[in-house]
Amino acid sequence: MKIELAPSILSSNFAQLGHDAQQAIEGGGTVLHVDVMDGHFVPNITLGPPVVKSLRKVVQVPLDCHLMIENPDLLIPDFAAAGADWISVHQEACIHLDRTLHLISSHGCKPGVVINPATPVEMLTEVLDLVHHVLVMSVNPGFGGQKFIPNALNKIAALARMRVERKLEFRIEVDGGIDLTTAGDVVKAGAELLVAGNAVFGHGDIRTNAKQLLEAARAATFARA
Ligand code: DX5
Ligand code: ZN
Repeated sequence: MKIELAPSILSSNFAQLGHDAQQAIEGGGTVLHVDVMDGHFVPNITLGPPVVKSLRKVVQVPLDCHLMIENPDLLIPDFAAAGADWISVHQEACIHLDRTLHLISSHGCKPGVVINPATPVEMLTEVLDLVHHVLVMSVNPGFGGQKFIPNALNKIAALARMRVERKLEFRIEVDGGIDLTTAGDVVKAGAELLVAGNAVFGHGDIRTNAKQLLEAARAATFARA
């Protein structure tokens, strides 16, 4: 599996979003992670389809829209029309998760499912064959810059085992508290898509930060092999 970095624009300077996103891509980011929050499912508000539409015009990499919203079915068509490539929804927010994942596919996007730190991976057994990626939250969603919750490593490893046992191909993504000290651990556990906000945009040079993080993650690939 290819290790990829998905810089999370949540921690970028929104007044120069296009510029910051470009820098993160130049540093090695191959997917752009877009955190959508509605002030209900999580206690914060971020952005919606118009921002995705603007971003779509200035970057070529896949836009990975992580919906931290209630009733995502209502907005999935708008995010797809705005140019989202991947759309993930929280298991905890979807009463009819199977239907929601099919809705995402029907709009031409890759469907993903997300679980909060308190949600066991077993909640996903019936949908693993429907998803392009499973996103394991390693912080409680809502804010950037939080501390990594180590139990995420067990959940990533369990998903990696389930993927082998069931001969599936979903990708394993991890989100929250990924930095130079945790990147290697999540890769060794089995994650291959690393979301990082604060570690990329929070300080210093965006390109250098992204490059170093990706190097740390890819170095751990060898340890796993
Ligand atoms: C948190 C978001 C994350 C956030 C991660 O609710 O889903 O994508 O940007 O930020 P860091 O990498 O700073 O923990
Ligand atoms: Zn996210």
